[in-house]
Amino acid sequence: MGFDLVLFGGTGDLAWRKLMPALFQAFRHGTLPAGGRIIAVARDTLSDEQYRRLMYERFDKVELAKRPTPDEFARFAQLLHYLRMDLSQPQDYAQLAALLQARQADTVVMYLATAPSLFTTVCEQIAAAGLNGPATRVVLEKPLGHDLASNQAINATLRRVLREEQVFRIDHYLGKPSVQNLFAMRFGNALFEPLWRRETIANIEITIAEDLGVETRGAFYDQTGALRDMIQNHALQLLCAIGMEPPINASANAIRDEKLKVLQSLKPWDEASIGQNVIRGQYTAGMVHGQPVPGYREEKGVAPDSNTETFVALRTEIMNWRWAGVPFYLRTGKRLAERSAQIMVHFRPVPHHIFKTPADAANRLVIHLQPQDGLDLRLLAQGATQAQSVETILTPVSLNLDFTQRFGAERVGAYERLLLDVIAGRLNLFVRSDEQEEAWRWVEPILEHWRRDPTGPRPYAAGTWGPSAASAMIARDGFCWSEEV
Ligand code: BG6
Repeated sequence: MGFDLVLFGGTGDLAWRKLMPALFQAFRHGTLPAGGRIIAVARDTLSDEQYRRLMYERFDKVELAKRPTPDEFARFAQLLHYLRMDLSQPQDYAQLAALLQARQADTVVMYLATAPSLFTTVCEQIAAAGLNGPATRVVLEKPLGHDLASNQAINATLRRVLREEQVFRIDHYLGKPSVQNLFAMRFGNALFEPLWRRETIANIEITIAEDLGVETRGAFYDQTGALRDMIQNHALQLLCAIGMEPPINASANAIRDEKLKVLQSLKPWDEASIGQNVIRGQYTAGMVHGQPVPGYREEKGVAPDSNTETFVALRTEIMNWRWAGVPFYLRTGKRLAERSAQIMVHFRPVPHHIFKTPADAANRLVIHLQPQDGLDLRLLAQGATQAQSVETILTPVSLNLDFTQRFGAERVGAYERLLLDVIAGRLNLFVRSDEQEEAWRWVEPILEHWRRDPTGPRPYAAGTWGPSAASAMIARDGFCWSEEV
């Protein structure tokens, strides 16, 4: 009967900022299966009613369009329950087991929105309390470990107590409508596939730029850095989506098998290639959108002599027949000039010019991920009639598709989509353990190199596009980052 969703970390930031609003949106859209219970778990002593009130107050901080009216909240609140638990205490899991067994829901989702250090304990305790039966699905937030060994240790515990199909490792970028559209564009249309290869593509650029700093997460971020926070997961998942072979069908394992092959084909690092092809930066005080902002080392929770990177740009290659020799540039950073994420596919220039074209006039396909979600195909066209000119000069034009405008109100947010997928048991947009381990295996030599390198990250002023070395790196291949074009 229905589902039970147990939300460990039920009073934490992730719960009220992302998960509760997403669950409420699904409820509002009528897509949350009927007859469900949401059981928030945390250490505070609260009644169901007190927890509901707390969530209602927190909704005030959520963007306006996602806030419930009092009437909507009153109906949604009937789903919310609260259980006080100390996650290290076996008897508290017995209490949870009693609560769950009294109802025997078809699906029991255990969402671990807790500190990652608790993942192993919670999974072991869930199993010890007999709560790891076939109806159970466990959702794990990133980061899953801080290096390959710690990731493998968590995965080993998971394997001891659950089957892989019961484990939902979230990378919320996979839940973004734009990323699903990327799959749709590549594998739902015949148009691009023949062009999607080294013969026609000169290079591919993936940028995830943020204008925000580390906000309230200084202490966590200082132990993490941009490589672990963004490249190991979100950026590599985008790289997989753009570089993978067409899967044999749309099942989770077929998709994950192809993504895994991309990760296995990434060019291995050595000392020289890391030195040349990986740039790390750290923001200093500057201006973002005209407002002065402090430097990273002045942020709360950050060590004043911190060497943690807030920016990474790197060049890699996928070593297979399709992509051999095509550079893939990945770039991410905090406190950059703007919030924007996109993938830019640069096609090769025509092999023989009969028209005069502006500089850098080759075709480009821009896949916009955020803030807008869309596709933009840059072509060359004959502009205004040039009767007096002997030569035809082509003009860049753009075939621009804005998905937000096209699909507007029907768009489903990343967490809403992923939570509904977990309840329905759809694993397509979740990461398998071997993918995750491969991604750690690939970033580890960089972490290792940085640990030994006393130079530290290169400073860049907040509100810029990162250290100039990132531009120099790409310029060596004769290219430049898109905002500089
Ligand atoms: C998270 C990172 O996974 O993704 C954050 O931990 C980052 O540091 C966030 O800000 C970016 O997500 P989005 O959806 O805002 O691009």
